[in-house]
Amino acid sequence: MSTYQNKFPVIAIDGTASSGKGTLAKKLAVFFGFDHLDSGMLYRIYAHEVLKKKIQEVDKIDINIELFNDKTLYESKNLRSELVSKTASKIAKNEFVRKQLINLQRHFADKPPSRKGSVIDGRDITSVIVPNAEVKFYIDASLEKRAKRRQIQLNLPEKEYEKVFYEMKTRDYNDKNRENCPLIKTKDSLYIDTSNISERMVLDIAIKEVKKKIDFI
Ligand code: CDP
Repeated sequence: MSTYQNKFPVIAIDGTASSGKGTLAKKLAVFFGFDHLDSGMLYRIYAHEVLKKKIQEVDKIDINIELFNDKTLYESKNLRSELVSKTASKIAKNEFVRKQLINLQRHFADKPPSRKGSVIDGRDITSVIVPNAEVKFYIDASLEKRAKRRQIQLNLPEKEYEKVFYEMKTRDYNDKNRENCPLIKTKDSLYIDTSNISERMVLDIAIKEVKKKIDFI
């Protein structure tokens, strides 16, 4: 049990692509009545803009903050495509972009709309964005399982599996090895391997951890 360090408790979740971190984040937010921020979406929105406007130098984009409130954009299927994923991962290396997004994410943690708490998932949430989060998770699964999940999620035929597998492998490598805010497992994060357990089991493990770390309401 701990007293809150942040004004509102923060659950920070990092992990590899298609590991189930987004699903877990969403479910935890519903369970505890917290707000959820999918930080990957922010990088995907950047990628979408870059692709749409055929911009070569990422430092030259001035992303309109209004864009992040555009619900129709969030729901757009395009944002999940492999092209957008690949571009997002390239853009994510850019210091200028990361600086622009850092305040937005910290503001969300500081003032979640519900004023109850937040769940934020991504690659650098436990290490850089909210290093003093009350609860931290690192979610992972075998590359084979994750590629299969992504192929199904994108409704792609079986023959596309290999391509998804290699693209995901490259993206993981880039995310873990970049200079700027790489994906790491912080010492204080609880590691959950979702390869062979159900979404419900992952949620149950996580709920237990949250209840242990946050003195609840
Ligand atoms: O859903 P999936 O795990 O495949 O990807 P995502 O979480 O939507 O993130 C897309 C890409 O954005 C990642 O491959 C990262 O390169 C980048 N990203 C990041 O650098 N930092 C974050 N906090 C979130 C995403």
